[in-house]
Parts: sequence; C-alpha cells; structure tokens
Amino acid sequence: MNRTKTILVCSGLTLALYTVAIVVGLTVNDLSSGKDDLSRSPGRAWQPPSSMSIPSTPRGDSIRRGALIFDETPIYASKDTPSKISCSSCHAGGGMQPFASPVVGMTKLFPMFNARAGRVISLPDRIEECFVRSENGQPIPYSGATMQDLLAYIGWLSTPQPDHQPYHGRGLISLPLLTPNPTHGQNIYATQCAGCHGTDGQGRAPLFPPVWGPMSFNDGAGLDSIQKMAAFVQHNMPQNRMGILSPQEAYDVAAFIHAQPRPAFNNAYKKF
Ligand code: HEC
Ligand code: HEC
Repeated sequence: MNRTKTILVCSGLTLALYTVAIVVGLTVNDLSSGKDDLSRSPGRAWQPPSSMSIPSTPRGDSIRRGALIFDETPIYASKDTPSKISCSSCHAGGGMQPFASPVVGMTKLFPMFNARAGRVISLPDRIEECFVRSENGQPIPYSGATMQDLLAYIGWLSTPQPDHQPYHGRGLISLPLLTPNPTHGQNIYATQCAGCHGTDGQGRAPLFPPVWGPMSFNDGAGLDSIQKMAAFVQHNMPQNRMGILSPQEAYDVAAFIHAQPRPAFNNAYKKF
C-alpha cells in the first residue's frame, strides 16, 4: 500500500468510527431522556400553581369546584357515580403525583390518539373514559357543570406546563412482564394493605378507597389489568411507605386483588 492509499484508508476508518460514535451517542442520549431521568425532564422545574392564584371570578369558582370533584368524586359528583372512588384515589396528590398518572399538562397534550378507542380523542372524551370505567359511573354531559369544572381544574393545573411537553412521570412506571403468584399476594395484602383498605377490600371512606367490591372501579378500567395495577402499586403503595414492594411482590398482590369480585363494565358505554 502506498502512502496516499494508507492515508485514505485511515481517514475512512476514522470517519466510520466517528459515525458509530455519533450514532451510539445519540442512542444513549435518547435513552437518557426517558421518563425516569429527572435532570432532563421539563416536569422537574414545574411547581404547582398556588391556590392563591385562583381568581375570584366565575372561572375561579369553577376551578375550585373542579378540585373538590377531583378529590372527592363520590361526594361532589354523587349523582354520576355509585362508587366510593375519587379521581385522586388513582391520580394521587390531586392529580400531581408523578407515576400515579398525573393530569398536569393534559390540556395541552390532547387531542391525541387513543389505543382503546382506536381514534383521536379529546380531553373530555378521556375524562368520560375514566368516568364510565374507573368511576363505574355513567357518561356525564360534556357541557354540564361536572365536566366543565373538571376541565377548569385540569386546565389550571396545566397552566405553568410548557406546550406539548408531557409532565414528568406521565402515566405509570413500566414494569417487565412477570408471572404473579396470587397466594403470596394474599399474604402481602394482609400484612401491607389491609390496614388501610380493609380485610374485606372495602376501604374506609373518605380516606381509603375500596380496592374491590361493588363500590370499586369496574372490570373495564385500566387498573383491572394485573400489569397496570402492579405498576401503580409498586410505585405508589403502601401509601405511607411508597416503593417498599419489589416488582414481583407488586404483581403478586395485584393478582390477588384481580381475583376478587368487582362491578361489570356496562357495554352500552363502550365507545368511551
Ligand atoms: C381506578 C383508578 C382511576 C380513577 C378512579 C380515575 N382514573 Fe383516570 N386514569 C387511570 C389510569 C390507570 C389511566 C391511564 C394511565 C396509563 O395507562 O398510562 C388514567 C388516565 C386518565 C387521563 C389521561 C392521562 C394521560 O396521561 O393521558 C385523564 C385526563 C384522566 N385519567 C382523568 C380522570 C378523571 C378526571 C377522573 C375522575 C372523574 C379519573 N381519571 C378517575 C385511572 C383512574
Ligand atoms: C396508609 C394507608 C394505605 C396503605 C397501607 C395502602 N394503601 Fe392503597 N391507597 C391508599 C390511599 C390513601 C389511596 C388513594 C391514593 C393516594 O392518596 O395515594 C390508595 C389507593 C390505592 C389504589 C387505587 C385506588 C383503588 O381504590 O383501587 C390501589 C389499587 C391500592 N391503593 C392498592 C394498595 C395495595 C395493593 C396496598 C398494599 C401493598 C396498599 N394499597 C396499601 C392508602 C393506603
């Protein structure tokens, strides 16, 4: 090989190495922007708006009513749901707790494609979906006070969130698929959960929501999936010692709860 050829081959190799390095670098970067990385997440800098900032106007009244409906749905939307479950029973911390499916920023993310519906849906459509499944309720009128107040509250929570950027901890954590052991789950339930949710799973209103039975969410709800409930429980329960369960233990207790009775989803509402 003469000298010119050697230089050409060498620079070709260097270029190839640079390309590999750039591609690998980009991939690593992509991974590090995943939802567990606090440092790159726009949600980190997010502070909930102060309740002092709610104006003394009809819109402010609607935001305040929306917060009450969200936190105590069975009381403030009693005609729309027979359950003893509030939006905040699952969307913990008034809809602000990361990885408990926070609703911060939703106003700016919708409309979006929804896999269950197989179409693009609006934020009111998504609220309706939780109403007829997770609340085991009936569809609420879009122009009615309950829907408008919930939209006002979620809109107010979303105010400081940058446009089209998901809030940190959107949705639930992702767990690997594991094979659950419901018998082990029964022991975990008795020692770690029954203190608040009751040995009969009925909770203690208004503090502790039921986890199964006639006052709970129905079998069309997202949490009726063992994997989703495991993800919710692993990160958010037991509420006073969050995160103590391993992913396997979370699957086990979710499978035990899944085997208990709960209301059936009313198929008449399946468009939501
Ligand atoms: C039994 C638990 C439960 C209850 C009660 C519940 N939800 Fe949900 N909600 C969920 C789950 C689970 C999801 C989907 C999370 C996921 O899969 O990433 C969800 C999703 C949502 C979303 C979309 C979030 C997103 O990131 O796209 C909104 C908005 C919402 N719920 C509003 C409400 C409102 C308002 C209420 C009360 C009327 C309510 N939910 C009651 C469990 C519940
Ligand atoms: C210290 C009391 C306490 C303990 C212990 C506790 N929870 Fe909860 N749980 C709550 C509260 C309060 C909520 C409502 C959400 C919130 O505020 O965090 C909740 C919500 C839930 C929900 C979603 C709403 C519903 O009713 O279905 C599930 C599922 C759940 N807990 C399962 C469990 C499991 C499984 C355990 C045991 C591993 C457990 N919890 C232990 C207090 C508790």
